[in-house]
Amino acid sequence: MTTTLDPGVVLAPMAGITNRPFRRLCREAGAGVYVSEMITARAFLEGSERTDRLIAFDEDETPRSMQLYSVDPGVLARTVEIIRADDLADHIDLNFGCPVRKVTRKGGGAALPWKLDLYAELVEAAVTNAGELPVTVKMRMGIDGDHLTYVDAGEIAARAGVTWVALHARTASQYYGGHADWDAIARLKDHLAPYGTPVLGNGDIWTASDATDMQARTGCDGVVVGRGCLGRPWLFGQLADARAGRPIRPDPGVDEVARTYRRHAQLLVDAFGEHIGCREIRKHHAWYFKGFRVGSEVRQGLGRVASLAEIDALLARIEPGQQADPQVVAAPRGRTNGDRTVTLPDGWLSSRSVGLRRQELAAAEIDASGG
Ligand SMILES: Cc1cc2nc3c(=O)[nH]c(=O)nc-3n(C[C@H](O)[C@H](O)[C@H](O)COP(=O)(O)O)c2cc1C
Repeated sequence: MTTTLDPGVVLAPMAGITNRPFRRLCREAGAGVYVSEMITARAFLEGSERTDRLIAFDEDETPRSMQLYSVDPGVLARTVEIIRADDLADHIDLNFGCPVRKVTRKGGGAALPWKLDLYAELVEAAVTNAGELPVTVKMRMGIDGDHLTYVDAGEIAARAGVTWVALHARTASQYYGGHADWDAIARLKDHLAPYGTPVLGNGDIWTASDATDMQARTGCDGVVVGRGCLGRPWLFGQLADARAGRPIRPDPGVDEVARTYRRHAQLLVDAFGEHIGCREIRKHHAWYFKGFRVGSEVRQGLGRVASLAEIDALLARIEPGQQADPQVVAAPRGRTNGDRTVTLPDGWLSSRSVGLRRQELAAAEIDASGG
């Protein structure tokens, strides 16, 4: 069955965050495409309890968007073929943006599109084996300012027939620092215009009006939102307001924030059990309660909760009725560190062709963990 994907608003895949419970919260708030945590094609084929968790979707989740990462066209082809044949997802997103050292130093992640031949084979392997399933590509601008890949990689993806190209407008060396270069999104949009392939912009959308600004400045067809929704799944409701031209609903006060946080914890516990669920919710409390007066004992307690009962007791100690501060809400959150030298395999930059280096690349798929 063909899935029609609306490129307007997409939840950026985030390892350790965009699991089934978080996607549900986002989905309930707004409308869009909510992408899973990344899974490597090799891990998919090998199968494990962890893999099963990563590829699980809610029964009413539609479209079921799965992000895959692979450095091996054969492995990717088999994976996509199984996903299609067994009806495991409605959409496949390919990740070519990981800046993490242990991945780039083997030639994977954001280093991979430098090798145009291998990159093209990967995209083609996915599109060919996906049948009617839409395949999309997510990438960074390149390795660093002197080694940009996004224009070539975008064009190759468009020629291969992807449904959209999403650009995180930073290089791997920028990591999460500085500002995303929205002009690069505009350049890619212009470059892909002859193919009619939609371009989605990603990077530094903290509020719904940032999304409107990005679209106005770049002409992009949609936005991909990552860190801005950490502790703020209702951002997707605000994005829906902005798209519909309605007044944007305000950020909730502390009482509603606490209710959403509590529901997030409950969904995690329902999905993974109380032990893992409580461990998972620990990473979210600082984002949810950013800018509110919450005593240090309560904050510390939320950072080590082990049961829903403990959460309830701690939430009861938060002073009710506090309003959100729009400036705090709009400030960057999550990873913001930047500027690093990208570690690559020896001689990686000397040729744009992968040549005989495919074997050493296989190691780049082990332990890859996101974005
Ligand atoms: C904790 C975290 C995990 C991430 N994991 C992934 C991932 O698995 N796959 C991916 O393509 N990008 C990943 N990313 C990158 C985001 O999808 C997104 O491109 C990036 O955060 C920039 O968008 P933003 O400025 O809206 O946050 C991750 C980012 C963060 C902060």
